[in-house]
Amino acid sequence: MLTKINHIGIAVNSLDETIPFYRDNLGMAFKGMEEVAEQQVKVAFLEVGESKIELLEPTTHESPVARFLEKNGAGIHHIAYQVENIEAAIAKLESEGARMIDKVPRLGAHGARIAFIHPKSSNGVLTELCQVGH
Ligand code: CO
Repeated sequence: MLTKINHIGIAVNSLDETIPFYRDNLGMAFKGMEEVAEQQVKVAFLEVGESKIELLEPTTHESPVARFLEKNGAGIHHIAYQVENIEAAIAKLESEGARMIDKVPRLGAHGARIAFIHPKSSNGVLTELCQVGH
């Protein structure tokens, strides 16, 4: 069902203040920035090998990432696994009793289709399914 870890999401207060650490100090390849209106975040992607880091900065106070930052401060927010067929993956998880935040995929950065599993069903780790392309 899963093909690889697509990215790790990290909540930050400021992309501008965080990007230099990953790009310059760690030497990761900067792959661009994008606003995801639906999730009220601005995201920056940095790549290392086959994996990416997704830095998330909230654009509103109501953004789920803003609430996360208030509660926990900056840090790891979610892990995203790549799947080939996101509808099939959601159906399988639900049939096995997992609770989904998104029962229907929504649009993530780079046109990926994503769905979050509820942390109650994933041992406290917010888990994203991510289908790239179609
Ligand atoms: Co993500």
